[in-house]
Amino acid sequence: MRFDILTAVPELLDSPLSHSIMQRAKDRGLLEVFVHNIRDYSHYKHKQIDDYQYGGGAGMVMMIEPILNCINVLRKERDYDEIIFLTPDGDLYDQKTANTLSLKKNVILLCGHYKGIDERIREHIITKEISIGSYVLSGGELAAAVLVDSIGRLIPGVLNDETSALSDSFQDDLLSAPVYTRPAKYGDWEVPAVLLSGHEAKIEAWRYEKALEKTLERRPDLLRKKEFDNDLST
Ligand code: ADE
Repeated sequence: MRFDILTAVPELLDSPLSHSIMQRAKDRGLLEVFVHNIRDYSHYKHKQIDDYQYGGGAGMVMMIEPILNCINVLRKERDYDEIIFLTPDGDLYDQKTANTLSLKKNVILLCGHYKGIDERIREHIITKEISIGSYVLSGGELAAAVLVDSIGRLIPGVLNDETSALSDSFQDDLLSAPVYTRPAKYGDWEVPAVLLSGHEAKIEAWRYEKALEKTLERRPDLLRKKEFDNDLST
């Protein structure tokens, strides 16, 4: 899968996607991430990419031309399945969207800055608008990194144990059960006996129960959603 990320601050994306699982995915040729500096596509003086907003008001707006120039250069090379704008007023991102996007081949992520981007880009070019949460970041870069990471790990072959992405929190609208490792006893902190029993069915049942308990306590909205989805599928 290929991501092209358009940003005015490419440095923000240097590190988050160059380590650990993301770097391994790139090394294996399963994931490609190209970061483009929108400023390089500006034909204005001083590589300007933003301007005052019509009608007045605080905050600069990113202009059409540099963004569109960059997108057009990319579109000449290949077709894109989605051109996504990261913005706090987009659709709220979740695991289901990550799953859907992980099936795509080429995706452009456009990071906003300043007050926003000229609405005409949103109207005519953008195919999807995504928010990673109900708070405002200084720009879309960290949100873009969140998308690449959460989608990248779903690409078959990226995780060593393919089942581990399937047992992630949210994957079945449940939070994950607690996990433990050695030692079995640390002072008087003990690992639940069932996990040491070797009884697979009992372990599975225990994990399911714990996942349900945690979800009920922390995210009852997920259980209501799960019930609703089940009702729809019966
Ligand atoms: N840009 C600024 N805030 C954002 C958010 N919450 N999600 C996505 N992009 C953003």
